Amino acid sequence: MFTSVILAAGMGTRMKSDMPKVVHKVCGKELVKWVIDASREAGADEVVAVIGHKADMVKPVIGENAKIAIQAEQLGTGHAVMQAAEYIKKAKGSVVVLNGDTPLIKAETIKKAIDYHVSNGNSATVITAEFEDATGYGRIVRGEDGSVLRIVEQKDASDEEKKIKEINSGMYVFNGADLAEALDKLTPNNAQGEYYLTDTLEILRGAGKKIGGYTIEDNDEIRGINNRIQLSEAETIMQRRINEKHMENGVTIINPSSVFIGSDVEIGRDTIIASNVTLAGNTKIGSGCSVEMGCRIVDSVIEDNVTVLNSVILESSIGEGTNVGPFAYVRPGCKVGRHVKVGDFVEIKNAVIDDGTKISHLTYLGDSDIGKNVNFGCGTVTCNYDGKDKFRSVIGDNVFVGCNTNLVSPVNVGEGAYIAAGSTITDDIPDKNLAIARARQVNKDDWKGNKYAK
Ligand code: UD1
Ligand code: CA
Repeated sequence: MFTSVILAAGMGTRMKSDMPKVVHKVCGKELVKWVIDASREAGADEVVAVIGHKADMVKPVIGENAKIAIQAEQLGTGHAVMQAAEYIKKAKGSVVVLNGDTPLIKAETIKKAIDYHVSNGNSATVITAEFEDATGYGRIVRGEDGSVLRIVEQKDASDEEKKIKEINSGMYVFNGADLAEALDKLTPNNAQGEYYLTDTLEILRGAGKKIGGYTIEDNDEIRGINNRIQLSEAETIMQRRINEKHMENGVTIINPSSVFIGSDVEIGRDTIIASNVTLAGNTKIGSGCSVEMGCRIVDSVIEDNVTVLNSVILESSIGEGTNVGPFAYVRPGCKVGRHVKVGDFVEIKNAVIDDGTKISHLTYLGDSDIGKNVNFGCGTVTCNYDGKDKFRSVIGDNVFVGCNTNLVSPVNVGEGAYIAAGSTITDDIPDKNLAIARARQVNKDDWKGNKYAK
């Protein structure tokens, strides 16, 4: 049990964005949300996000996932933590301070830092790293016994201190009561005139408390994001982590660097993901599926043994054993049954399609309820929109729709009906009827008009 305080009030000027930095996304999840989730996964029973810059855009992202403390003016990291004082005072166990722009921090690392902090009997523990180029970071000044004496900021550092390679990640574990006490004594006593959180360490040390440093193993975890280049680097690292997690769980990913899988996506075992695939949002893919080249699947459920090739599927569900594509566009609101074929150049929207139905090629079905084992000939179109309103059509089981049929909605096609090719259907068709709705053919045997014929 611990309390996590996430600093996320900063401007993020270098993002050159109209949005606050911490709502930019890595693998489909906002930066601050990654840090909240890592805190929860590590066992935090209270998470507080300190927000300020464009707080109204950050609040909806945080929602019910964390408490919010507002820092109206950004007067430094110490000042930011002060805004969470109410939660720090009632914290059970340790208080962990994290940064909202550091999404790669792992739950496991937070846990290890807390264990280190507790087992060493520290009052405060700084999470540190060794950097070849430490420019811009606070440097860790250690005493002979290895304890942390203080942290000196780049701007306040002497030439000797600037050579120190051990840096402050900006993440810490504190004893809650000690932190609360030190914050009360904090002053903006430095070159920047800011309240430095790092100064609390000196206050605690002055009071005879023990300060430690926990050196992280993987420097990637403390990468802060300040610009779009760093955002893309974090995306690459996170993407690799996500892909590797799926591969460890039994998913084959043929060319991982071209596959983008959102943080919440689930994939069953023995599913194969080919190149240039994006799986995003709240998507769930079953086992034994083949997601072939060039697919984009968002907020959809794909059952087992489905094959999808070069297609887009949005907010829909696809039943077991169904084939989609190549070049199909499944728009929101579709519920496709089992062993269905949604073939090439087929677009479906807000349509329920029951088991065994074949929509093989060049067809548009919108706002429709389609029964079982229906066969659509090439080029069927539901005319579902009259320029003002949308209408629904219903097609019964075992219907055969001839090629190049227009179904002018709303229209009901009875079970087992047969529609002749080239028909424009405007009236309901009773069960098992043949419907022919096209002009009769006329042949003229003495016609001389063919300029092409030799
Ligand atoms: C801070 C540390 C430095 C460390 C570095 C790691 C201090 C004084 N220095 O420096 O030792 O190496 O982080 O990145 O703490 N924030 C607020 N409100 C504020 C100021 C900052 O919420 O008033 C947030 C920022 O949004 C950011 C985090 O705190 O998420 C760190 O702030 P930043 O200004 O980047 O700190 P640095 O000066 O870089
Ligand atoms: Ca910084």
